Amino acid sequence: MALLEIDNLSKNFISSTNWFGRASVIEANKNINLKLEEGKTLAIVGESGSGKTTLAKQIIGIEKPSSGVIKLDDQALRFNNRQDKRKRFTNIRMIFQDPYESLNPNVRIGHALEQPLIINTALTAKQRKQKISDTLIKVGMQSEHQYRYPHMFSGGQRQRIAIARAIILEPRVIIADEPLSSLDVSIQAQILNLMQTLQEEMGISYIFISHDLNIVEHIADSIMVMYRGKVVEQGNVSQIFDEPLHPYTQALFASTPIFRNRFPDFLQQGKRKPLTNEKASCVFAERCPYCEERCQSSSPPLIDVDDDFKIACFKFD
Ligand SMILES: Nc1ncnc2c1ncn2[C@@H]1O[C@H](COP(=O)(O)OP(=O)(O)OP(=O)(O)O)[C@@H](O)[C@H]1O
Ligand SMILES: [Mg+2]
Repeated sequence: MALLEIDNLSKNFISSTNWFGRASVIEANKNINLKLEEGKTLAIVGESGSGKTTLAKQIIGIEKPSSGVIKLDDQALRFNNRQDKRKRFTNIRMIFQDPYESLNPNVRIGHALEQPLIINTALTAKQRKQKISDTLIKVGMQSEHQYRYPHMFSGGQRQRIAIARAIILEPRVIIADEPLSSLDVSIQAQILNLMQTLQEEMGISYIFISHDLNIVEHIADSIMVMYRGKVVEQGNVSQIFDEPLHPYTQALFASTPIFRNRFPDFLQQGKRKPLTNEKASCVFAERCPYCEERCQSSSPPLIDVDDDFKIACFKFD
C-alpha cells in the first residue's frame, strides 16, 4: 500500500471574464494519478505553469480539488474536514522556494517553531523547548538561534529553519516546491544533503518539485513529467534519465546543458505550429516535432507500459 495516493485529481480555475464577457477555464491539473511510497522521493518536473504547485497545494489542503481523491494510508482526505485537516497538518508539510516569505519577519524563530507543537502535541513548555533545540541542531543550526528573527540569517540558514519547521511534528511526507532555486550552488548542495540525511533518519517521503534535472537525478527515485496540467511521462528516475521517451521529456532534457548533446537540435527549438483543434489535441501537439494528424484531433491517454512506467504519446500505442 502506498503512503500517499492520488486518483484522477483535476483542478480547474475560472479566470476572470474575457473581452466577450465569457469566463475561461484554466485546467491546471488534468486527471493526475500518483503513488508515493514510504521513505521514497518522487520528483515533479515541468516548465512554468504546468501545474506543479497547484498539485502540491491540493495535497496539503489549501486548494480544493475540482475532482479526484487524495489518500493517506489508503484513506481519503476530505477538504475542509476538521479531522482530516489535522491529519494533513501533522503528516504532510511543505517547504517553499523562498524561505523568507514563509517565515514571519516579526516572529522569533523559536516562537514560529513552537506554534505547531502547542496546537498539535501534548508536550509541556519545557519539553517543547527541548524539541525546538533538538530540531534546530538536527538541521545544522544552534539552539540559541531560536531567540533570533528571520532577517538575522542567510538564505541557506533560513531554508534550514524552514526545514526545521517542516519536520518538527515528524511528518511522513514533505513537499518541497523548488526548495533550492533561491540559493547559490554551494548552498544548494548542503541543503540537498541535509534533506537526504533527514530522509534516512526519519523515513520521510519527499515530493520534490524542481526545474533542475541534475538535482532530480541526484535525489529522486521516481519522476513525473508534467506539461500544461497533464502527466506526459512517469517512471523510474534511472529508466527515464537513461532514455526519456516522450517528446516533451526529450525537449526538457535537450534544454539542459549536460544532456543536450544526446538530442537533435530540432527538439531544443520547440517551434510552435498552429493547431486546428487545440481543445481536443495532445497538450504538446503545437510544439511536438513528431506531431501527426491524430495528435491534433485527439489526446493520447497515459498508458501503463509496465508497473513502473507510463507515457501519454501516440508513438507508443
Ligand atoms: N489561484 C489561481 N487562479 C487562477 N489560475 C491559477 C491559480 N493558481 C494557478 N493558476 C494557473 O494554473 C496554472 C498552473 O500554475 P502552477 O502555479 O501550478 O504552475 P507551476 O508548474 O507551479 O509553475 P512554476 O514552475 O512557474 O512555479 C497556470 O496557468 C496558472 O496561471
Ligand atoms: Mg510553482
